[in-house]
Amino acid sequence: MSDKHLFQSGTLNRLALKNRIMVAPMTRISASVDGIPGERMQLYYQRFVRGGFSAIITEGIYIDEAWSQTYAFQAGLVNAKQRAGWRSITDRVHQRGGKIIAQLMHAGAISQGNIYRADTLAPSSIQPRGEQLGFYHGHGAYPLPREMDEEQIQQVIDSFAHTAARAIGEAGFDGIEIHGANGYLLDQFFTDYTNQRSDRWGGDIVARLSLTLAVIAAVRQRVGHDVTLGIRLSQGKVNDLQHKWREGEAGARQVFAAIAEAGVDYLHLTEYDALQPAFADSPLSLVQMARQAAPNLPIIANGSLSDANKAAQALEQGADYVSIGKSALANPDWPMRIRDAVELRVFDKNLLAPSADVKNCELV
Ligand SMILES: Cc1cc2nc3c(=O)[nH]c(=O)nc-3n(C[C@H](O)[C@H](O)[C@H](O)COP(=O)(O)O)c2cc1C
Repeated sequence: MSDKHLFQSGTLNRLALKNRIMVAPMTRISASVDGIPGERMQLYYQRFVRGGFSAIITEGIYIDEAWSQTYAFQAGLVNAKQRAGWRSITDRVHQRGGKIIAQLMHAGAISQGNIYRADTLAPSSIQPRGEQLGFYHGHGAYPLPREMDEEQIQQVIDSFAHTAARAIGEAGFDGIEIHGANGYLLDQFFTDYTNQRSDRWGGDIVARLSLTLAVIAAVRQRVGHDVTLGIRLSQGKVNDLQHKWREGEAGARQVFAAIAEAGVDYLHLTEYDALQPAFADSPLSLVQMARQAAPNLPIIANGSLSDANKAAQALEQGADYVSIGKSALANPDWPMRIRDAVELRVFDKNLLAPSADVKNCELV
């Protein structure tokens, strides 16, 4: 049995957390057309604090006025108005005793609503799988991306770093999560079939992780050692849900060891079902592999953990925290409901809206 439990306090670097339950990052495309978060998003994020979550990881936020924006009405953190919008949110969260971590992202090839650029960039000029998400105002195939040159790669590293510094220094966030998951730019570099580069950014699984590691190093240098910094990784992608890392368990262990060495404060792993075996030839989940390969690295587990017994099982498998996605939309008071044994609302797709409106989601 694990000695951790969902309502135990914890710390990530200097961030004190009152329990082990976080809100998973969820894009809500609820900012203004020019990426400024407003009142609707303030109300949306506040509910989770009142509902007992120890921390909120924000929706993915874009990091430059170039190729990073992913969706129309996505919030950015690249100019004074956007930072002021986020500052109102972080202030409200803090007034209520909550903590909030900014998830920073770059779309790469799967941008489908960028107000700054019409074209897309990627590690290699390869047609992305799947189709644009209709749910987020996209339609049809993704455009064919251009291959990034070295200068563009360095600009991306720098954009992550200076946006992170401003997220902490100006927008008032408590930490930074780098979005290395779900098919976006860093994951495109990490993925064998989207990265066919022959320079130092391509090659075996660790070489393909090198952009993610470079971003971690640059962000760490800019925000300092006391700021909580995490990385999110996944196998599945929004445009390729079933993807598995080609190098299997051996590759996963190399990745987790490299991430631990990079000096992050946590690894956020998301799978469709966090408890299930990660690969067909091993009984271990990704969380279990990470726990073995990086014994001291705090892990947040995500994916189908809405049932409190499953969430507790993730802690037993070696996770230190869980993050709740869809069920948190239906139950912004998920922690209070679990604590008080109040039945959970069933997640209904209509709740997505897809915007951050708070209708039908009163707290208990
Ligand atoms: C509406 C919606 C938007 C999402 N947006 C993001 C995002 O911006 N960044 C991210 O890393 N994951 C995003 N995800 C994935 C969730 O963080 C989470 O991994 C997924 O919902 C599985 O967890 P769950 O089973 O608890 O819902 C999104 C999921 C949903 C449902």
